[in-house]
Amino acid sequence: MSQLLFVKSSVFGDGGQSSKLADHFIQRWTASHADAQVVVRDLVDQPIAHFDLNAISALSTEAAERSPDQQEIAALSDTLIGEVQRADAIVIAAPMYNFAVPSQLKAWFDQIARNGVTFRYTENGPEGLLDNKPVYILATRGGQYHEAGLDYQVPWLKLILGFVGLNNVEVILAEGLNMGDAEQSIQAAQSAINALSFN
Ligand SMILES: Cc1cc2nc3c(=O)[nH]c(=O)nc-3n(C[C@H](O)[C@H](O)[C@H](O)COP(=O)(O)O)c2cc1C
Repeated sequence: MSQLLFVKSSVFGDGGQSSKLADHFIQRWTASHADAQVVVRDLVDQPIAHFDLNAISALSTEAAERSPDQQEIAALSDTLIGEVQRADAIVIAAPMYNFAVPSQLKAWFDQIARNGVTFRYTENGPEGLLDNKPVYILATRGGQYHEAGLDYQVPWLKLILGFVGLNNVEVILAEGLNMGDAEQSIQAAQSAINALSFN
């Protein structure tokens, strides 16, 4: 069985442009994996709390010594990391909100990047601990940033994914969606998805 983890973060839910692109991606991916299973992590329907001192304390306390509240916090992080570990591939639908990822998606990464579990520091610097696997970023935005060198969203996504060991990242961009020719941009992104080859 091949498992695809779909990380969904548009506040517009299924109506979001990134969600619609993800639907197209999932159709293509499942068509090329006969035994495909898709796990949906919907960060808007099931929001993750902002990372705070309670979370830091819970995750830095030994499992056997955690209070009931800390166990609950750690269980969520374990669940989210488990989904990433079990996946054979990951697709992240990432709209741009205020030049960055939605805060819901940031909160997910705050739980995933965990010292001693998904990364560790060595004398040579940080080392990602997740097994490498393909990650597909579907980045939608109203304006144009890539060509202008003003995209701070996708480079950050690649940086944090690489930090936890996920360096095999493919980016599909749909830009200029609020600039008049959204249909053409979505079609170009769908064509780019069609051109992907999946193992
Ligand atoms: C709260 C909010 C903030 C946004 N900020 C930006 C932005 O900084 N730059 C931009 O190009 N588009 C921005 N947009 C437009 C979205 O990136 C664009 O509509 C995108 O396709 C939304 O994806 P979604 O429909 O999957 O949520 C913003 C949209 C919203 C709702």
